[in-house]
Amino acid sequence: MIEALEERTEFTVDEVFTPSSPAISCYVPRDRKTNDKVVNALNTRGKQIVVYGHTGSGKTTLLLNKLNEVYDNHVTSNCMKTTTVDGLLLDAFSQICHFFESERSITERSGRDLFIETTFKEIKAGIKLAASSDTSTKLTRLVPPQLNAQNLAKLLGSKGLCWVIEDFHKVEESEKQKLSQIMKIFMDCGSEYPYVKIIALGAVHTARQVVEYDDEMRNRVSEIEIQLMSEQEILEIIITGEKRLNIEFTSGIKK
Ligand SMILES: Nc1ncnc2c1ncn2[C@@H]1O[C@H](COP(=O)(O)OP(=O)(O)OP(=O)(O)O)[C@@H](O)[C@H]1O
Ligand SMILES: [Mg+2]
Repeated sequence: MIEALEERTEFTVDEVFTPSSPAISCYVPRDRKTNDKVVNALNTRGKQIVVYGHTGSGKTTLLLNKLNEVYDNHVTSNCMKTTTVDGLLLDAFSQICHFFESERSITERSGRDLFIETTFKEIKAGIKLAASSDTSTKLTRLVPPQLNAQNLAKLLGSKGLCWVIEDFHKVEESEKQKLSQIMKIFMDCGSEYPYVKIIALGAVHTARQVVEYDDEMRNRVSEIEIQLMSEQEILEIIITGEKRLNIEFTSGIKK
Protein backbone atom coordinates (compact mmCIF):
# COMPACT_ATOMS: atom_id res chain seq x y z
CA MET A 1 0.00 0.00 0.00
CA ILE A 2 2.72 2.46 1.10
CA GLU A 3 4.91 1.39 -1.82
CA ALA A 4 2.01 1.91 -4.21
CA LEU A 5 1.55 5.40 -2.80
CA GLU A 6 5.25 6.18 -3.18
CA GLU A 7 5.08 5.12 -6.84
CA ARG A 8 2.20 7.45 -7.61
CA THR A 9 3.18 10.85 -8.93
CA GLU A 10 -0.13 12.67 -8.96
CA PHE A 11 -2.54 13.28 -6.11
CA THR A 12 -5.54 15.57 -5.76
CA VAL A 13 -5.65 18.06 -2.89
CA ASP A 14 -8.69 16.44 -1.32
CA GLU A 15 -7.08 13.00 -1.14
CA VAL A 16 -3.96 14.44 0.46
CA PHE A 17 -5.50 16.76 3.05
CA THR A 18 -8.44 14.95 4.63
CA PRO A 19 -9.84 16.98 7.53
CA SER A 20 -13.05 14.96 7.63
CA SER A 21 -12.01 11.46 6.67
CA PRO A 22 -9.30 8.96 7.56
CA ALA A 23 -5.91 9.79 6.02
CA ILE A 24 -4.53 7.25 3.56
CA SER A 25 -2.25 9.01 1.07
CA CYS A 26 -1.05 11.49 3.69
CA TYR A 27 -0.93 9.03 6.57
CA VAL A 28 1.76 9.79 9.13
CA PRO A 29 2.91 6.81 11.24
CA ARG A 30 2.16 7.22 14.94
CA ASP A 31 4.68 6.66 17.73
CA ARG A 32 6.37 3.29 17.61
CA LYS A 33 4.90 1.95 20.85
CA THR A 34 1.30 2.57 19.76
CA ASN A 35 2.03 1.31 16.28
CA ASP A 36 3.60 -1.94 17.57
CA LYS A 37 0.77 -2.47 20.01
CA VAL A 38 -1.81 -2.32 17.21
CA VAL A 39 0.18 -4.60 14.89
CA ASN A 40 0.91 -7.14 17.67
CA ALA A 41 -2.72 -7.21 18.74
CA LEU A 42 -3.85 -7.71 15.14
CA ASN A 43 -1.41 -10.57 14.72
CA THR A 44 -2.23 -12.35 17.99
CA ARG A 45 -4.75 -15.18 17.72
CA GLY A 46 -7.88 -14.73 19.77
CA LYS A 47 -6.85 -11.25 20.92
CA GLN A 48 -9.74 -8.80 20.94
CA ILE A 49 -9.00 -5.08 20.63
CA VAL A 50 -10.44 -1.93 22.16
CA VAL A 51 -9.13 1.36 20.76
CA TYR A 52 -10.00 4.46 22.76
CA GLY A 53 -9.01 8.10 23.05
CA HIS A 54 -10.14 11.64 22.41
CA THR A 55 -12.31 12.31 19.36
CA GLY A 56 -10.10 13.27 16.42
CA SER A 57 -7.01 11.63 17.95
CA GLY A 58 -6.65 9.36 14.93
CA LYS A 59 -8.15 6.04 16.09
CA THR A 60 -9.95 5.23 12.84
CA THR A 61 -7.05 6.39 10.67
CA LEU A 62 -4.41 4.36 12.53
CA LEU A 63 -6.55 1.25 12.60
CA LEU A 64 -7.51 1.49 8.94
CA ASN A 65 -3.89 1.85 7.84
CA LYS A 66 -2.74 -1.09 9.97
CA LEU A 67 -5.70 -3.27 8.95
CA ASN A 68 -4.78 -2.73 5.32
CA GLU A 69 -1.38 -4.23 6.09
CA VAL A 70 -2.71 -7.34 7.82
CA TYR A 71 -6.15 -8.09 6.34
CA ASP A 72 -7.38 -8.24 2.75
CA ASN A 73 -10.86 -7.25 3.90
CA HIS A 74 -12.72 -6.36 7.04
CA VAL A 75 -16.27 -5.53 8.05
CA THR A 76 -17.14 -2.21 9.72
CA SER A 77 -20.31 -1.52 11.69
CA ASN A 78 -21.12 1.98 12.95
CA CYS A 79 -23.02 2.67 16.15
CA MET A 80 -25.55 5.22 17.35
CA LYS A 81 -27.09 5.56 20.80
CA THR A 82 -29.96 3.27 19.82
CA THR A 83 -27.75 0.54 18.33
CA THR A 84 -28.21 -2.91 19.84
CA VAL A 85 -25.90 -5.89 19.74
CA ASP A 86 -28.58 -7.83 17.84
CA GLY A 87 -28.67 -5.02 15.29
CA LEU A 88 -24.89 -5.26 14.98
CA LEU A 89 -25.02 -9.03 14.38
CA LEU A 90 -27.50 -8.45 11.57
CA ASP A 91 -25.45 -5.61 10.14
CA ALA A 92 -22.26 -7.68 10.06
CA PHE A 93 -24.09 -10.62 8.54
CA SER A 94 -25.64 -8.49 5.80
CA GLN A 95 -22.18 -7.17 4.91
CA ILE A 96 -20.64 -10.61 4.53
CA CYS A 97 -23.46 -12.16 2.49
CA HIS A 98 -21.79 -11.39 -0.83
CA PHE A 99 -18.69 -13.35 0.20
CA PHE A 100 -20.82 -16.46 0.33
CA GLU A 101 -23.33 -15.77 -2.41
CA SER A 102 -20.70 -15.10 -5.07
CA GLU A 103 -18.90 -18.32 -4.26
CA ARG A 104 -18.58 -20.71 -7.18
CA SER A 105 -19.65 -24.25 -6.54
CA ILE A 106 -16.69 -26.20 -5.29
CA THR A 107 -16.61 -29.86 -6.14
CA GLU A 108 -14.67 -30.99 -3.08
CA ARG A 109 -15.73 -29.59 0.24
CA SER A 110 -14.34 -30.27 3.67
CA GLY A 111 -16.69 -30.83 6.60
CA ARG A 112 -15.91 -27.32 7.76
CA ASP A 113 -16.79 -25.80 4.37
CA LEU A 114 -20.09 -27.61 4.45
CA PHE A 115 -20.81 -26.43 7.97
CA ILE A 116 -20.11 -22.81 6.96
CA GLU A 117 -22.26 -23.08 3.86
CA THR A 118 -25.17 -24.65 5.74
CA THR A 119 -24.91 -22.11 8.57
CA PHE A 120 -24.98 -19.25 6.08
CA LYS A 121 -28.05 -20.63 4.31
CA GLU A 122 -29.88 -21.26 7.57
CA ILE A 123 -29.30 -17.72 8.82
CA LYS A 124 -30.35 -16.24 5.50
CA ALA A 125 -33.54 -18.31 5.50
CA GLY A 126 -34.16 -17.42 9.16
CA ILE A 127 -33.91 -13.69 8.42
CA LYS A 128 -36.26 -14.04 5.47
CA LEU A 129 -38.78 -15.96 7.52
CA ALA A 130 -38.68 -13.45 10.39
CA ALA A 131 -39.06 -10.55 7.96
CA SER A 132 -42.09 -12.08 6.28
CA SER A 133 -43.87 -13.10 9.50
CA ASP A 134 -43.16 -10.00 11.58
CA THR A 135 -44.42 -6.62 10.54
CA SER A 136 -43.02 -4.85 13.58
CA THR A 137 -40.04 -2.61 12.91
CA LYS A 138 -38.16 -3.98 15.89
CA LEU A 139 -34.87 -5.15 14.43
CA THR A 140 -34.07 -7.54 17.27
CA ARG A 141 -36.96 -9.81 16.32
CA LEU A 142 -35.42 -10.30 12.89
CA VAL A 143 -32.39 -12.03 14.34
CA PRO A 144 -32.82 -15.76 13.83
CA PRO A 145 -31.44 -18.08 16.53
CA GLN A 146 -28.78 -19.33 14.11
CA LEU A 147 -27.30 -15.83 13.88
CA ASN A 148 -25.42 -16.09 17.15
CA ALA A 149 -21.93 -14.88 18.01
CA GLN A 150 -20.33 -18.26 17.46
CA ASN A 151 -21.75 -18.76 13.99
CA LEU A 152 -20.93 -15.17 12.98
CA ALA A 153 -17.35 -15.64 14.21
CA LYS A 154 -17.05 -18.80 12.11
CA LEU A 155 -18.48 -17.15 9.01
CA LEU A 156 -16.13 -14.15 9.39
CA GLY A 157 -13.20 -16.44 10.22
CA SER A 158 -13.78 -18.65 7.19
CA LYS A 159 -13.30 -15.58 4.98
CA GLY A 160 -10.32 -14.22 6.95
CA LEU A 161 -12.27 -11.18 8.08
CA CYS A 162 -12.22 -9.16 11.28
CA TRP A 163 -15.08 -7.04 12.59
CA VAL A 164 -14.57 -3.35 13.37
CA ILE A 165 -17.25 -1.70 15.51
CA GLU A 166 -17.00 2.10 15.40
CA ASP A 167 -18.24 4.44 18.14
CA PHE A 168 -19.33 1.64 20.44
CA HIS A 169 -19.06 4.01 23.43
CA LYS A 170 -22.38 5.54 22.33
CA VAL A 171 -24.57 2.48 22.99
CA GLU A 172 -26.51 1.66 26.18
CA GLU A 173 -24.62 0.10 29.10
CA SER A 174 -26.54 -3.19 28.87
CA GLU A 175 -25.37 -3.61 25.27
CA LYS A 176 -21.76 -3.04 26.36
CA GLN A 177 -22.00 -6.08 28.61
CA LYS A 178 -23.52 -8.12 25.80
CA LEU A 179 -20.65 -7.26 23.47
CA SER A 180 -18.22 -8.39 26.16
CA GLN A 181 -19.84 -11.85 26.06
CA ILE A 182 -19.60 -11.87 22.29
CA MET A 183 -15.93 -10.94 22.45
CA LYS A 184 -15.38 -13.92 24.71
CA ILE A 185 -16.88 -16.22 22.09
CA PHE A 186 -14.70 -14.63 19.38
CA MET A 187 -11.63 -15.24 21.58
CA ASP A 188 -12.45 -18.93 21.76
CA CYS A 189 -12.83 -19.12 18.00
CA GLY A 190 -9.24 -17.85 17.63
CA SER A 191 -7.85 -21.38 17.82
CA GLU A 192 -9.86 -22.48 14.79
CA TYR A 193 -9.81 -19.16 12.89
CA PRO A 194 -6.60 -17.24 13.67
CA TYR A 195 -7.65 -13.89 12.24
CA VAL A 196 -11.18 -13.51 13.49
CA LYS A 197 -11.53 -10.77 16.07
CA ILE A 198 -13.62 -7.82 17.18
CA ILE A 199 -12.09 -4.37 17.25
CA ALA A 200 -14.25 -1.89 19.14
CA LEU A 201 -13.51 1.83 18.98
CA GLY A 202 -14.77 4.61 21.21
CA ALA A 203 -14.07 8.28 21.87
CA VAL A 204 -13.73 7.91 25.63
CA HIS A 205 -10.98 7.93 28.27
CA THR A 206 -10.83 4.24 29.19
CA ALA A 207 -11.28 0.94 27.36
CA ARG A 208 -13.94 -0.16 29.86
CA GLN A 209 -16.10 2.76 28.84
CA VAL A 210 -16.15 1.23 25.37
CA VAL A 211 -16.85 -2.42 26.31
CA GLU A 212 -17.70 -3.61 29.81
CA TYR A 213 -15.68 -6.79 30.16
CA ASP A 214 -14.67 -8.38 33.41
CA ASP A 215 -11.21 -8.95 34.88
CA GLU A 216 -10.93 -12.54 33.66
CA MET A 217 -10.95 -11.19 30.06
CA ARG A 218 -8.45 -8.44 30.70
CA ASN A 219 -5.39 -10.32 29.39
CA ARG A 220 -7.18 -11.31 26.27
CA VAL A 221 -8.25 -7.83 25.27
CA SER A 222 -5.65 -5.39 24.02
CA GLU A 223 -6.52 -1.91 25.28
CA ILE A 224 -4.95 0.69 23.01
CA GLU A 225 -5.08 4.36 23.85
CA ILE A 226 -4.56 6.84 21.03
CA GLN A 227 -3.19 10.17 22.24
CA LEU A 228 -3.92 13.42 20.45
CA MET A 229 -1.32 14.02 17.74
CA SER A 230 1.76 15.98 18.79
CA GLU A 231 2.73 19.22 17.05
CA GLN A 232 5.53 17.32 15.34
CA GLU A 233 3.11 14.71 13.99
CA ILE A 234 0.79 17.42 12.69
CA LEU A 235 3.75 19.12 11.02
CA GLU A 236 4.59 15.75 9.43
CA ILE A 237 1.13 15.72 7.82
CA ILE A 238 1.86 19.07 6.19
CA ILE A 239 5.34 17.98 5.07
CA THR A 240 3.98 14.72 3.61
CA GLY A 241 1.27 16.77 1.87
CA GLU A 242 3.93 19.03 0.33
CA LYS A 243 5.70 15.99 -1.10
CA ARG A 244 2.54 14.39 -2.44
CA LEU A 245 1.37 17.61 -4.14
CA ASN A 246 4.86 18.72 -5.12
CA ILE A 247 4.41 22.15 -3.55
CA GLU A 248 6.09 24.08 -0.75
CA PHE A 249 4.55 26.02 2.09
CA THR A 250 6.46 28.80 3.82
CA SER A 251 7.26 28.12 7.47
CA GLY A 252 4.79 30.84 8.43
CA ILE A 253 1.96 29.03 6.70
CA LYS A 254 3.03 25.71 8.22
CA LYS A 255 2.83 27.24 11.68
N1 LIG B 1 -1.75 9.35 11.36
C1 LIG B 1 -2.40 10.31 10.71
N2 LIG B 1 -1.84 10.88 9.62
C2 LIG B 1 -2.47 11.88 8.97
N3 LIG B 1 -3.68 12.37 9.32
C3 LIG B 1 -4.30 11.82 10.37
C4 LIG B 1 -3.68 10.77 11.14
N4 LIG B 1 -4.51 10.43 12.13
C5 LIG B 1 -5.58 11.21 12.01
N5 LIG B 1 -5.48 12.04 10.95
C6 LIG B 1 -6.49 13.00 10.50
O1 LIG B 1 -7.09 13.53 11.69
C7 LIG B 1 -8.52 13.54 11.59
C8 LIG B 1 -9.13 12.71 12.71
O2 LIG B 1 -8.74 11.37 12.55
P1 LIG B 1 -9.73 10.15 12.84
O3 LIG B 1 -11.04 10.35 12.19
O4 LIG B 1 -8.97 8.91 12.53
O5 LIG B 1 -9.91 10.31 14.43
P2 LIG B 1 -10.79 9.46 15.42
O6 LIG B 1 -10.00 9.29 16.67
O7 LIG B 1 -11.24 8.21 14.76
O8 LIG B 1 -12.04 10.42 15.71
P3 LIG B 1 -13.51 10.03 16.23
O9 LIG B 1 -13.38 9.57 17.65
O10 LIG B 1 -14.27 11.31 16.14
O11 LIG B 1 -14.04 8.97 15.33
C9 LIG B 1 -8.86 13.05 10.18
O12 LIG B 1 -9.06 14.18 9.39
C10 LIG B 1 -7.62 12.31 9.73
O13 LIG B 1 -7.44 12.41 8.33
MG1 LIG C 1 -13.16 7.49 14.29
